Amino acid sequence: MFFKQRSSADGTLSYFYGCGGKGSAVAVDVVAGDEAWFVEEAQKAAVRIAFVIDTHVHADHVSGGRALAAQVGAPYCLHESDAGKVHFPIRGLQDGEVLETGNVITKVLHTPGHTPDSICLLVSDLRRSADPWFVLTGDTLFVSGVGRPDLGGTPKEMAGRIFDSIHAKLLTLPDDLEIFPGHAAGSVCGAGLSGKPSSTIGFEKRWDPYLSMTDRDAFIRELTANIPERPAEMARIVAANLGAAA
Ligand SMILES: [Fe+2]
Repeated sequence: MFFKQRSSADGTLSYFYGCGGKGSAVAVDVVAGDEAWFVEEAQKAAVRIAFVIDTHVHADHVSGGRALAAQVGAPYCLHESDAGKVHFPIRGLQDGEVLETGNVITKVLHTPGHTPDSICLLVSDLRRSADPWFVLTGDTLFVSGVGRPDLGGTPKEMAGRIFDSIHAKLLTLPDDLEIFPGHAAGSVCGAGLSGKPSSTIGFEKRWDPYLSMTDRDAFIRELTANIPERPAEMARIVAANLGAAA
């Protein structure tokens, strides 16, 4: 398989990966303005972009996902719960669904909390093993942090949902599984993020202060006490990402 991480403005991390042998790839969390980079990388790797996915409707940056999908003729994918919210057609992803791109497979995990539609993507390279090799955690789990819970407007409830998602869907995965998050330091999507753009489930279990909190109420208290400033121009950005802007 091939795998690329792209660091964009404000600590946002995007991903491009897939199967070079069978020429099929996935683009994740594309930032507006970066579409040409993905097209160039696809040409270099001689792959077709089969899926363009956003891990949630972003509030901190305008997505380039829809534009890239239209440009390359791929489905633009969001969690299925966004189908009634966005003003354009999507391919709605279901919890547990598996997307195939040659020998690389991507399993969708619905992990609500940062937003109701947040997903993580569990990726295996069948040439190595059917076991997952890494997980793209979007804004659910960061290196040294977790996603902010307030953007949907009900921070305590959403902090509880992040706790449930992380404990049920992520911390049950093997300790040696690699984590690639949606942001590194510099982002307003979470507090206290590391500048290192990857980690493992095992290392974060030991050293991410939020993951060692096993008491749900204490986790909710701590997470809602440390909420960063809201993203600048959040209303305009969300409207653009929902397709509601003029
Ligand atoms: Fe986010």
